[in-house]
Amino acid sequence: MSQIRAAITGIQGYVPDYILTNAELEKMVDTNDEWIVSRTGIKERRILKGEGLGTSHMAVEAVKGLLAKTKTSPEEIDLLICATTTPDYVFPSTANLICDMAGIKAIGSFDIQAACSGFVYALTVGSQFIETGKYKKVIVVGADKMSAIVDYTDRTTCVLFGDGAGAVLLEPNTEGFGVLDSIIKSDGAGQPFLHQKAGGSRYPPTHETVDKRWHYAYQDGPSVFKFAVTNMADVAAEIMEKNHLTGEDVAWLVPHQANKRIISATANRMKVGMDKVMLNIQKYGNTTAATIPLCLWDYESQLKKGDNLILAAFGGGFTWGAIYVKWGY
Ligand SMILES: CC(C)(COP(=O)(O)OP(=O)(O)OC[C@H]1O[C@@H](n2cnc3c(N)ncnc32)[C@H](O)[C@@H]1OP(=O)(O)O)[C@@H](O)C(=O)NCCC(=O)NCCS
Repeated sequence: MSQIRAAITGIQGYVPDYILTNAELEKMVDTNDEWIVSRTGIKERRILKGEGLGTSHMAVEAVKGLLAKTKTSPEEIDLLICATTTPDYVFPSTANLICDMAGIKAIGSFDIQAACSGFVYALTVGSQFIETGKYKKVIVVGADKMSAIVDYTDRTTCVLFGDGAGAVLLEPNTEGFGVLDSIIKSDGAGQPFLHQKAGGSRYPPTHETVDKRWHYAYQDGPSVFKFAVTNMADVAAEIMEKNHLTGEDVAWLVPHQANKRIISATANRMKVGMDKVMLNIQKYGNTTAATIPLCLWDYESQLKKGDNLILAAFGGGFTWGAIYVKWGY
């Protein structure tokens, strides 16, 4: 096999120390552990505390760990892509900041914004640079500090999200391992259901936008649920059919962690048992672009060379997508 594929050759995650439990949320809003666990599957989530700390501070921990673990020096990296919905600044990009903090100098680096599908989008893009032969070592990061845009007076969203980061190293492989296929989709008509209204060019920050709480993430949960449950399952099934995979061929489903019920529906549709589904929602909640790399990090020791993985995500935009990876180590 001579076709160049982008193999994942290392994975590293980072979550902040602070644990926000359902019990603590019970003291902040009118909610309870039973509701949160039964409706979402979430028991606790991590929160990045500390003034002046942003998404890049978590991402750089994942990247530094990845470099150390894979015995890669910063000078060897050709490109770094960061998927995030909570960039440190409107500009410069968080990817630029991560490179600077990790000692990675003068390479191309940029952010991708596809909300909860961000990592699937970024991995799709990063793989192209390997497959074309242009680059030899590409880092793809998924990182979000959702606590920066979550309204902790809104019980319908604040129980869902947490902070975290994950990073993978992509390198060329000609033995059939790596990203074998990907599908990405979007529908901007989803904007009313899931968005952060102010802070961009339509509604720059004013006293009024702050008073109206427009700088927080807004989600119409039940509407998003309907789109998510259909589209995530459809796209996972689509990539399996396209690659002639049955549920039995799939070693792991690596789903975006928004709601355990959406994950179960996707697994059902794929005819994959829940014992083959990576889950970290119970301990991290929805970490947006970080959920999938954090899952891979958590389950790394259980992965075997040749395992077929289906990554699937759905998020704001709407955006959704799936990736077929043959695990390479
Ligand atoms: C947000 C979500 C968990 C809500 O679950 P749901 O079963 O749809 O619940 P609903 O929003 O219909 O609310 C049901 C009831 O619980 C209440 N409720 C909402 N949040 C609550 C909370 N944290 N604690 C207690 N009760 C709550 C609602 O007010 C409602 O009460 P009512 O029946 O008296 O009006 C679910 O819709 C979801 O996961 N949506 C999709 C998330 C997603 O995929 N996002 C995309 C990627 S980010």
